[in-house]
Amino acid sequence: MGVHFGISTLFVFCLLGLSANAKVFKITSPTGSDITSALLKTFNEACQFPTKATVMIPKGEYKLGEIEMVGPCKAPIRIALQGTVKADGNIKGKDFWVAFKKINGFKLNGGGVFDGEGNAAWRVNNCHKTFECKKLPISVRFDFVTDAKIRGITSLDSKNFHINVIGAKNMTFEDIKIVAPAGSPNTDGIHVGRSDGIKIINSFISTGDDCISVGDGMRNLLVERVTCGPGHGISVGSLGRYGHEEDVTGIRVVNCTLQNTDNGVRIKTWPSAKCATTASEIHFENILLKNVSNPILIDQEYCPWNQCNKQKPSTIKLVNISFKKIRGTSGNKDAVKLLCSKGYPCKNVEIGDINIKYTGADGPATFSCSNVSPKLKGTQVPKACSSPVPKLPGQK
Ligand SMILES: *[C@@H]1O[C@H](CO)[C@@H](O)[C@H](O)[C@H]1NC(C)=O
Ligand SMILES: *[C@@H]1O[C@H](CO)[C@@H](O)[C@H](O)[C@H]1NC(C)=O
Ligand SMILES: *[C@@H]1O[C@H](CO)[C@@H](O)[C@H](O)[C@H]1NC(C)=O
Ligand SMILES: *[C@@H]1O[C@H](CO)[C@@H](O)[C@H](O)[C@H]1NC(C)=O
Repeated sequence: MGVHFGISTLFVFCLLGLSANAKVFKITSPTGSDITSALLKTFNEACQFPTKATVMIPKGEYKLGEIEMVGPCKAPIRIALQGTVKADGNIKGKDFWVAFKKINGFKLNGGGVFDGEGNAAWRVNNCHKTFECKKLPISVRFDFVTDAKIRGITSLDSKNFHINVIGAKNMTFEDIKIVAPAGSPNTDGIHVGRSDGIKIINSFISTGDDCISVGDGMRNLLVERVTCGPGHGISVGSLGRYGHEEDVTGIRVVNCTLQNTDNGVRIKTWPSAKCATTASEIHFENILLKNVSNPILIDQEYCPWNQCNKQKPSTIKLVNISFKKIRGTSGNKDAVKLLCSKGYPCKNVEIGDINIKYTGADGPATFSCSNVSPKLKGTQVPKACSSPVPKLPGQK
């Protein structure tokens, strides 16, 4: 953890775009070693430093156990992860592998990799099938981190979600790469909730579950130029599974590409929701679809494995929603499905310039609605439902 002020270090500062006044705290452990205690010690030292500090994890491959890096710090702090950190293959007790908590003024960058080594753990994970299951650790958690920028980082093979954000304010993710196999369970790319002001920009997410999922209490999220797939697409929700949930508002998803995903852009709420919240101002615009099943979906009857009473209408209100300029190919014929709650029909849903083709033998593509009268603008391929259509028996 020496501090170097040599010419070569200044050169490195310039290369990394580090401001020359940040003090660098470097991990000096040899490649291949376990850096858990070195990183914790170094982080805490840097966190207590009175002016800007950088914790540097140099190029190389390191083992890293469960670690919690907790602020508040005395000044802005940056972690330059240049190497690869690998998790233990064993399943541990905590719900995270790496956690950053209560840090204001935070940067994480450097081109490095968090490798969650999820392969062995996926086989015992059944949380996607039941309420009662052993929760596997999320790879990287950000809890109550504010004024933060996470840039140029890769997450591989998380055991559970790759990245989870809660309690954030003003946080940007940019140039993030997330990779896990299509069949890996619960490996959501980035889950955000209970936060205000998050941007996810110019990133690539290929995983086994949702590309980006938005939980309750999320306000002001921008997702821009993100490519997803395979995986389950971009999802607001599921909402209403638990009590004490908060409203969702101000979600914009623009200029994104979805390829070979099980869903495109969707909003899902549980029937018989335990709370009566509102999800409003949710806008999807300029989305390119390549072989996407269920490209546009509002599902207020989301009830996997019959964990709920489907007879009760969802009590989550959906208001001011739009889907605009969405084009490409669908992997199944249900191109657009707007299934709103019969207790609380969706209000002010706008559908504009939709052009989705399906070429399968059971085609052409369809557009179905229930408990909603969407405002239509521009092109509609497939032809839009013009009025609420009654549900067919057995239709999900
Ligand atoms: C948001 O966070 C960034 C750091 O990533 C900071 O430079 C900027 O000043 C913050 N903006 C506001 C409005 O606090
Ligand atoms: C989306 O892309 C279009 C065309 O490439 C561009 O004109 C527009 O400014 C972009 N919108 C945003 C919000 O990035
Ligand atoms: C279409 O996407 C599905 C996954 O939803 C995938 O299994 C299939 O191989 C894809 N087809 C093509 C032609 O890429
Ligand atoms: C929905 O949009 C209308 C018109 O822009 C606005 O007056 C209303 O407050 C919005 N409702 C919600 C819940 O955001």
